[in-house]
Amino acid sequence: MQKKHTTVETLLEAIPYIKKFYGKTIVIKYGGSAQTSPDLKEKFAQDIALLSLVGIKPVIVHGGGARISELLGKLEINSEFVDGHRVTSEDTMRVVEMVLSGEINKNITSLLNHHGAKAIGISGKDSSIIKAKPKDNGKFGYTGVVTEINEKMINNLIKEGFIPVIAPIADSATPNHPGFNINADVAASKIASAIGAQKVLFLTDTVGVLDKEGKLLNSLDKKDVAKYKADGTIAGGMIPKVDSCIDAIYNGVNKAHIIDGRVEHSILLELFTSDGIGTQFLRKDNPNNGIDMDKLLNDEM
Ligand SMILES: Nc1ncnc2c1ncn2[C@@H]1O[C@H](COP(=O)(O)OP(=O)(O)OP(=O)(O)O)[C@@H](O)[C@H]1O
Ligand SMILES: [Mg+2]
Repeated sequence: MQKKHTTVETLLEAIPYIKKFYGKTIVIKYGGSAQTSPDLKEKFAQDIALLSLVGIKPVIVHGGGARISELLGKLEINSEFVDGHRVTSEDTMRVVEMVLSGEINKNITSLLNHHGAKAIGISGKDSSIIKAKPKDNGKFGYTGVVTEINEKMINNLIKEGFIPVIAPIADSATPNHPGFNINADVAASKIASAIGAQKVLFLTDTVGVLDKEGKLLNSLDKKDVAKYKADGTIAGGMIPKVDSCIDAIYNGVNKAHIIDGRVEHSILLELFTSDGIGTQFLRKDNPNNGIDMDKLLNDEM
């Protein structure tokens, strides 16, 4: 009996949050580092199915850095990173396409469908959803920077009730080009801005952004990020992630969060509880931030 009461209480507590996000689009970057165990992947799929069932519209953009590096290692192809961005040779691009558009994209899509969600797996090449050009004049090989997002196509899929699962591979303007490898954090942020998402969540393998002492930084804006990057606190794969969070909130997305994808149901914890988890990014000059949930509940009920 007590257990049933707790379940009811938990459901009631989630009501204001469900109301707040009902009908809204939330982009979720599912980091390769958070796709570690089959059990965690199941929990992720359950969370996404639940969001969809309560009227929230998730869009998934996935990474796969660890899996790409693993396969490159087996093929004896070198992995090279500069400032957290992969340098993509022609051979590396073939592996990136196989792992991201092939293996990981289909794996996530099928898992979501098994959990009752209506997911459709695509890459940025499909219907030219992501167009790109070489990053830093080709210094990074086939690593690209996004030039255009076909938001109409993504919105059409959402309108039809699909959950788009997007591999961060972009089309090139040149025919017969192998395409571009886009850092998945960057792709998620650009997609979130283009489709006017309410939020973008980045699931990764740390509790959030940590300071030099390893303590979680709860809330960051542009200036904080610049400082932590300059003094080396933020390094490697965290660089494109924080840059993408800042890019999103300065281009129309209300909030961005970096959360721990190793924690079961981290998406639900972030969205449906008052505490939230991880590091949030919000514009301190935005008057819409810091909404009082109790007030919202009383005003609207
Ligand atoms: N200040 C910091 N706080 C937390 N993590 C940091 C920090 N600086 C660097 N990192 C590194 O950033 C990593 C997360 O980025 P990474 O690119 O490895 O994962 P991901 O983006 O989730 O996965 P993928 O690139 O496959 O999508 C952490 O595992 C950590 O090693
Ligand atoms: Mg990364």
